[in-house]
Amino acid sequence: MIFYFSATGNNKYVASKIAEATGDSTISISECMKKSIYSFSLKGSESFGLVIPTYFGGFPKIVIDFLSKLKMNFSADNYVFFIGTYGAGAGNICKEAEKRLSALGKAPDATFTIKMVDNWIPYFDMTDRDYIGKAEAEAEPVLADVIEKVSSHKKELNTDKGMSGFTQRIATAYYGMACSTKKFSVSDSCIGCGICERQCPVQAIQVKDGKPEWAKKKCTLCLGCVHRCPKNAIAYTEKTKGHGQYY
Ligand SMILES: Cc1cc2nc3c(=O)[nH]c(=O)nc-3n(C[C@H](O)[C@H](O)[C@H](O)COP(=O)(O)O)c2cc1C
Ligand code: SF4
Ligand code: SF4
Repeated sequence: MIFYFSATGNNKYVASKIAEATGDSTISISECMKKSIYSFSLKGSESFGLVIPTYFGGFPKIVIDFLSKLKMNFSADNYVFFIGTYGAGAGNICKEAEKRLSALGKAPDATFTIKMVDNWIPYFDMTDRDYIGKAEAEAEPVLADVIEKVSSHKKELNTDKGMSGFTQRIATAYYGMACSTKKFSVSDSCIGCGICERQCPVQAIQVKDGKPEWAKKKCTLCLGCVHRCPKNAIAYTEKTKGHGQYY
Protein backbone atom coordinates (compact mmCIF):
# COMPACT_ATOMS: atom_id res chain seq x y z
CA MET A 1 0.00 0.00 0.00
CA ILE A 2 1.80 3.13 -1.23
CA PHE A 3 0.33 6.49 -0.24
CA TYR A 4 1.45 9.46 -2.29
CA PHE A 5 0.82 13.16 -2.60
CA SER A 6 1.60 14.78 -5.92
CA ALA A 7 0.68 18.13 -7.46
CA THR A 8 2.74 18.03 -10.64
CA GLY A 9 3.37 14.32 -11.12
CA ASN A 10 6.83 13.56 -9.67
CA ASN A 11 5.59 11.63 -6.67
CA LYS A 12 2.79 9.95 -8.59
CA TYR A 13 5.45 8.74 -11.04
CA VAL A 14 7.73 7.46 -8.27
CA ALA A 15 4.86 5.73 -6.45
CA SER A 16 3.60 4.07 -9.64
CA LYS A 17 7.08 2.89 -10.68
CA ILE A 18 7.59 1.27 -7.27
CA ALA A 19 4.12 -0.29 -7.39
CA GLU A 20 4.90 -1.64 -10.85
CA ALA A 21 7.99 -3.40 -9.46
CA THR A 22 6.52 -4.63 -6.16
CA GLY A 23 2.89 -5.31 -7.04
CA ASP A 24 1.71 -2.91 -4.31
CA SER A 25 -1.29 -0.64 -4.81
CA THR A 26 -1.02 3.17 -4.92
CA ILE A 27 -3.36 5.48 -3.01
CA SER A 28 -3.68 9.22 -3.62
CA ILE A 29 -3.72 11.25 -0.40
CA SER A 30 -5.65 14.03 -2.21
CA GLU A 31 -8.42 11.59 -3.15
CA CYS A 32 -8.57 10.18 0.40
CA MET A 33 -8.88 13.72 1.77
CA LYS A 34 -11.59 14.65 -0.74
CA LYS A 35 -13.61 11.51 0.12
CA SER A 36 -12.76 11.53 3.89
CA ILE A 37 -11.28 8.01 3.76
CA TYR A 38 -8.83 7.55 6.62
CA SER A 39 -9.05 3.91 7.68
CA PHE A 40 -6.94 1.23 5.96
CA SER A 41 -5.78 -2.23 6.85
CA LEU A 42 -2.57 -3.90 5.75
CA LYS A 43 -2.93 -7.58 4.89
CA GLY A 44 -0.34 -9.87 6.50
CA SER A 45 3.17 -8.70 5.69
CA GLU A 46 2.04 -6.09 3.12
CA SER A 47 4.37 -3.07 2.80
CA PHE A 48 3.44 0.49 3.70
CA GLY A 49 4.98 3.34 1.69
CA LEU A 50 4.70 7.11 1.87
CA VAL A 51 5.91 9.09 -1.18
CA ILE A 52 5.67 12.89 -0.95
CA PRO A 53 7.32 16.15 -2.05
CA THR A 54 9.51 18.29 0.20
CA TYR A 55 7.92 21.66 1.04
CA PHE A 56 10.24 24.13 2.77
CA GLY A 57 12.48 21.35 4.04
CA GLY A 58 9.60 19.33 5.50
CA PHE A 59 6.18 17.78 4.96
CA PRO A 60 3.38 19.45 2.95
CA LYS A 61 0.60 20.57 5.28
CA ILE A 62 -1.98 18.33 3.57
CA VAL A 63 0.16 15.26 4.36
CA ILE A 64 0.47 16.28 8.03
CA ASP A 65 -3.34 16.67 8.17
CA PHE A 66 -3.85 13.30 6.47
CA LEU A 67 -1.48 11.44 8.82
CA SER A 68 -3.19 12.99 11.85
CA LYS A 69 -6.43 11.27 10.74
CA LEU A 70 -5.01 8.04 9.27
CA LYS A 71 -5.76 4.75 11.05
CA MET A 72 -3.43 1.85 10.16
CA ASN A 73 -2.97 -1.64 11.61
CA PHE A 74 0.83 -1.99 11.63
CA SER A 75 2.51 -5.17 12.83
CA ALA A 76 6.20 -6.08 13.09
CA ASP A 77 5.88 -7.88 9.71
CA ASN A 78 5.08 -4.78 7.65
CA TYR A 79 8.01 -3.18 5.78
CA VAL A 80 7.57 0.60 6.12
CA PHE A 81 9.37 2.92 3.71
CA PHE A 82 9.40 6.65 3.03
CA ILE A 83 10.47 8.59 -0.06
CA GLY A 84 10.77 12.36 -0.14
CA THR A 85 11.29 13.94 -3.56
CA TYR A 86 12.86 17.37 -3.81
CA GLY A 87 14.48 19.72 -6.31
CA ALA A 88 17.19 21.66 -4.49
CA GLY A 89 17.52 20.38 -0.93
CA ALA A 90 15.48 17.83 1.02
CA GLY A 91 16.07 19.61 4.35
CA ASN A 92 14.90 17.46 7.25
CA ILE A 93 12.18 15.51 5.49
CA CYS A 94 13.57 12.06 6.36
CA LYS A 95 13.97 12.94 10.03
CA GLU A 96 10.42 14.31 10.01
CA ALA A 97 9.23 11.07 8.38
CA GLU A 98 10.85 9.02 11.16
CA LYS A 99 9.03 11.12 13.74
CA ARG A 100 5.64 11.16 12.03
CA LEU A 101 5.59 7.48 11.01
CA SER A 102 6.65 6.42 14.53
CA ALA A 103 3.72 8.46 15.89
CA LEU A 104 1.45 6.68 13.40
CA GLY A 105 2.44 3.28 14.74
CA LYS A 106 5.68 2.05 13.15
CA ALA A 107 9.09 3.67 12.65
CA PRO A 108 10.21 3.44 9.01
CA ASP A 109 12.56 0.63 8.00
CA ALA A 110 13.90 2.78 5.17
CA THR A 111 13.92 6.47 4.20
CA PHE A 112 15.08 7.78 0.82
CA THR A 113 15.24 11.06 -1.07
CA ILE A 114 15.11 11.51 -4.84
CA LYS A 115 16.15 14.74 -6.54
CA MET A 116 13.70 15.57 -9.34
CA VAL A 117 12.44 18.65 -11.22
CA ASP A 118 11.79 21.47 -8.74
CA ASN A 119 8.25 22.77 -9.34
CA TRP A 120 8.72 25.82 -7.06
CA ILE A 121 8.34 28.32 -9.91
CA PRO A 122 8.75 31.48 -7.90
CA TYR A 123 12.40 30.47 -8.24
CA PHE A 124 12.77 27.74 -10.89
CA ASP A 125 12.00 28.42 -14.56
CA MET A 126 10.05 25.66 -16.31
CA THR A 127 10.73 27.18 -19.72
CA ASP A 128 14.36 26.12 -19.23
CA ARG A 129 14.21 22.82 -21.15
CA ASP A 130 17.88 22.05 -20.40
CA TYR A 131 17.19 22.17 -16.66
CA ILE A 132 14.08 19.95 -16.97
CA GLY A 133 15.83 17.40 -19.24
CA LYS A 134 18.90 17.19 -16.98
CA ALA A 135 16.87 16.88 -13.77
CA GLU A 136 14.64 14.18 -15.28
CA ALA A 137 17.61 12.20 -16.62
CA GLU A 138 19.52 12.41 -13.33
CA ALA A 139 16.50 11.23 -11.32
CA GLU A 140 16.12 7.94 -13.21
CA PRO A 141 19.19 6.04 -11.85
CA VAL A 142 18.42 7.23 -8.31
CA LEU A 143 14.84 6.00 -8.70
CA ALA A 144 16.07 2.66 -10.07
CA ASP A 145 18.31 2.23 -7.01
CA VAL A 146 15.43 3.06 -4.64
CA ILE A 147 13.12 0.62 -6.46
CA GLU A 148 15.69 -2.15 -6.03
CA LYS A 149 16.09 -1.41 -2.32
CA VAL A 150 12.35 -1.21 -1.64
CA SER A 151 11.73 -4.40 -3.63
CA SER A 152 14.26 -6.27 -1.47
CA HIS A 153 12.91 -4.67 1.76
CA LYS A 154 16.30 -3.15 2.47
CA LYS A 155 16.64 -1.42 5.83
CA GLU A 156 18.42 1.90 5.31
CA LEU A 157 17.77 5.23 7.01
CA ASN A 158 18.85 8.42 5.25
CA THR A 159 21.51 10.15 7.36
CA ASP A 160 21.83 13.48 5.50
CA LYS A 161 22.56 16.32 7.90
CA GLY A 162 19.68 18.50 6.66
CA MET A 163 18.94 21.95 8.10
CA SER A 164 19.65 23.13 11.63
CA GLY A 165 16.61 23.20 13.91
CA PHE A 166 16.69 27.01 13.79
CA THR A 167 16.73 27.20 9.97
CA GLN A 168 13.97 24.60 9.78
CA ARG A 169 11.78 26.64 12.15
CA ILE A 170 12.26 29.71 9.94
CA ALA A 171 11.44 27.68 6.80
CA THR A 172 8.28 26.27 8.44
CA ALA A 173 7.19 29.75 9.55
CA TYR A 174 7.80 31.05 6.01
CA TYR A 175 5.67 28.19 4.61
CA GLY A 176 2.83 29.22 6.94
CA MET A 177 2.93 32.78 5.62
CA ALA A 178 3.45 31.78 1.97
CA CYS A 179 0.24 29.69 2.07
CA SER A 180 -1.91 32.82 1.99
CA THR A 181 -4.26 32.58 -1.01
CA LYS A 182 -4.13 36.40 -1.38
CA LYS A 183 -0.95 35.79 -3.38
CA PHE A 184 -2.82 34.20 -6.33
CA SER A 185 -4.08 36.18 -9.32
CA VAL A 186 -5.87 35.25 -12.55
CA SER A 187 -5.34 36.82 -15.98
CA ASP A 188 -7.97 37.56 -18.63
CA SER A 189 -6.93 34.45 -20.57
CA CYS A 190 -8.96 32.30 -18.12
CA ILE A 191 -11.73 30.42 -19.95
CA GLY A 192 -13.63 29.30 -16.83
CA CYS A 193 -12.97 25.58 -17.46
CA GLY A 194 -12.90 24.69 -13.73
CA ILE A 195 -9.76 22.53 -13.92
CA CYS A 196 -8.13 24.56 -11.13
CA GLU A 197 -11.15 24.00 -8.85
CA ARG A 198 -11.10 20.24 -9.51
CA GLN A 199 -7.30 20.06 -9.19
CA CYS A 200 -7.10 21.76 -5.79
CA PRO A 201 -6.58 19.06 -3.12
CA VAL A 202 -7.96 21.23 -0.32
CA GLN A 203 -11.01 22.75 -2.07
CA ALA A 204 -9.61 26.26 -1.77
CA ILE A 205 -10.84 27.32 -5.24
CA GLN A 206 -14.37 27.98 -6.48
CA VAL A 207 -15.09 29.07 -10.04
CA LYS A 208 -17.75 31.78 -9.93
CA ASP A 209 -19.04 33.71 -12.93
CA GLY A 210 -16.44 31.98 -15.10
CA LYS A 211 -13.41 32.86 -12.96
CA PRO A 212 -11.67 31.18 -10.01
CA GLU A 213 -11.92 32.71 -6.57
CA TRP A 214 -9.95 31.53 -3.54
CA ALA A 215 -12.59 30.61 -0.96
CA LYS A 216 -10.11 29.77 1.81
CA LYS A 217 -7.57 32.13 3.36
CA LYS A 218 -4.82 29.49 3.27
CA CYS A 219 -4.08 26.44 1.15
CA THR A 220 -1.38 23.76 1.10
CA LEU A 221 0.55 25.66 -1.63
CA CYS A 222 1.05 22.72 -3.97
CA LEU A 223 1.00 25.09 -7.00
CA GLY A 224 -1.04 22.48 -8.89
CA CYS A 225 -3.55 25.15 -9.96
CA VAL A 226 -0.74 27.26 -11.44
CA HIS A 227 0.95 24.37 -13.27
CA ARG A 228 -2.22 22.67 -14.55
CA CYS A 229 -4.25 25.62 -15.90
CA PRO A 230 -4.63 25.03 -19.67
CA LYS A 231 -4.30 28.77 -20.31
CA ASN A 232 -1.47 29.40 -17.81
CA ALA A 233 -3.79 32.05 -16.39
CA ILE A 234 -2.94 31.66 -12.68
CA ALA A 235 0.04 33.36 -11.09
CA TYR A 236 1.36 32.94 -7.56
CA THR A 237 2.96 36.34 -6.95
CA GLU A 238 4.66 38.24 -9.79
CA LYS A 239 7.62 35.85 -9.53
CA THR A 240 5.86 32.92 -11.28
CA LYS A 241 4.95 34.98 -14.35
CA GLY A 242 7.00 33.88 -17.35
CA HIS A 243 8.29 30.77 -15.54
CA GLY A 244 6.05 28.38 -17.49
CA GLN A 245 4.38 25.24 -16.21
CA TYR A 246 5.44 21.68 -15.36
CA TYR A 247 3.49 18.47 -15.14
C1 LIG B 1 5.44 24.93 -1.70
C2 LIG B 1 6.62 24.19 -2.24
C3 LIG B 1 7.77 24.13 -1.47
C4 LIG B 1 8.88 23.42 -1.92
N1 LIG B 1 9.97 23.34 -1.11
C5 LIG B 1 11.05 22.65 -1.52
C6 LIG B 1 12.19 22.54 -0.67
O1 LIG B 1 12.24 23.02 0.46
N2 LIG B 1 13.27 21.89 -1.18
C7 LIG B 1 13.28 21.34 -2.42
O2 LIG B 1 14.30 20.80 -2.84
N3 LIG B 1 12.20 21.36 -3.22
C8 LIG B 1 11.07 22.01 -2.80
N4 LIG B 1 9.95 22.05 -3.59
C9 LIG B 1 9.95 21.26 -4.86
C10 LIG B 1 9.20 19.93 -4.75
O3 LIG B 1 9.49 19.27 -3.53
C11 LIG B 1 9.54 18.97 -5.90
O4 LIG B 1 9.52 19.59 -7.14
C12 LIG B 1 8.62 17.75 -5.88
O5 LIG B 1 9.25 16.68 -6.55
C13 LIG B 1 7.29 18.02 -6.55
O6 LIG B 1 6.48 16.87 -6.48
P1 LIG B 1 5.13 16.65 -7.32
O7 LIG B 1 5.50 16.83 -8.79
O8 LIG B 1 4.75 15.24 -7.04
O9 LIG B 1 4.14 17.64 -6.87
C14 LIG B 1 8.84 22.76 -3.18
C15 LIG B 1 7.68 22.85 -3.97
C16 LIG B 1 6.59 23.55 -3.51
C17 LIG B 1 5.34 23.62 -4.36
S1 SF4 C 1 -7.89 26.25 -14.89
FE1 SF4 C 1 -7.24 28.21 -15.74
S2 SF4 C 1 -8.64 28.57 -17.43
FE2 SF4 C 1 -9.57 26.97 -16.19
S3 SF4 C 1 -10.90 28.11 -14.75
FE3 SF4 C 1 -8.94 27.83 -13.72
S4 SF4 C 1 -7.81 29.72 -14.19
FE4 SF4 C 1 -9.50 29.61 -15.65
S1 SF4 D 1 -5.11 26.79 -4.30
FE1 SF4 D 1 -3.68 26.03 -5.83
S2 SF4 D 1 -1.72 25.96 -4.75
FE2 SF4 D 1 -3.30 26.11 -3.19
S3 SF4 D 1 -3.69 23.96 -2.62
FE3 SF4 D 1 -5.20 24.56 -4.18
S4 SF4 D 1 -4.26 23.87 -6.12
FE4 SF4 D 1 -2.65 23.90 -4.56
